[in-house]
Amino acid sequence: MIKLINNDCLDVMKNIPDESIDLIITDPPYLINYKTNYRKNKNHDFCKTIKNDDNFSLISEYIKNCYRILKKNKAMYIFCNNTHVDFFKQELEKNNFNIKNMIIWVKNNWTAGDLKAQFGKQYEIIFLVNKGRCFFNGKRITDVWLFDRVAGTSQLHQNQKPLDLIKQCILKHSKENEVIFDGFMGSGTTGVACKELNRDFIGVEIDRKYFEIAKNRIEGDDSNGK
Ligand SMILES: C[S@@+](CC[C@H](N)C(=O)[O-])C[C@H]1O[C@@H](n2cnc3c(N)ncnc32)[C@H](O)[C@@H]1O
Repeated sequence: MIKLINNDCLDVMKNIPDESIDLIITDPPYLINYKTNYRKNKNHDFCKTIKNDDNFSLISEYIKNCYRILKKNKAMYIFCNNTHVDFFKQELEKNNFNIKNMIIWVKNNWTAGDLKAQFGKQYEIIFLVNKGRCFFNGKRITDVWLFDRVAGTSQLHQNQKPLDLIKQCILKHSKENEVIFDGFMGSGTTGVACKELNRDFIGVEIDRKYFEIAKNRIEGDDSNGK
């Protein structure tokens, strides 16, 4: 079962029953109001901020609802970066999630930023949290993950995550036919990974354009697009 919805994730979550989801993998706005200045074409879609990139209360409500819809003894992966890592951590703890790891995803590039006073930032953060205690599948792995970013030319979303990274989350914390939820699916990477690994998927995206991209990627023939 694959269910894709073009709406606000909080509206959709109201209709998801308590303790009905096996795994949440989610890459929300990082709350940084980020807009790149490094593209020649300033009208390119990737030069605009993503929706709700300044909406702290959305993230608070979302995390609260994630705890409600997740089954007991199951896991969630949630991405953020160093800017508001304290906020994300506090919200997770406030909602009774057990923080198991703050995974450091090391990328093959680093940011520009303040070239004279700040070193290049080369990592993003992925919280692995449990509702109760959720055993991982297979061998124990490290909390430093090395995955190349999605290269510019094949990027469908400015914040697109590597398919293999998302697959690693799925393989470590779910079984075939279990239900995985992503309320901020962007270009649908979590959905593509679920389809390829025979997991059920519920994905929500508020932006019509990204929703259509995700739908084509997940439901179209070209579902292995990175
Ligand atoms: C960081 S991106 C996700 C990128 C995704 N992981 C990928 O690989 O393409 C976050 C997405 O959340 C969407 N979004 C923001 N507010 C939302 C809301 N209230 N409900 C659903 N989606 C929302 C944005 O439009 C954006 O596409």
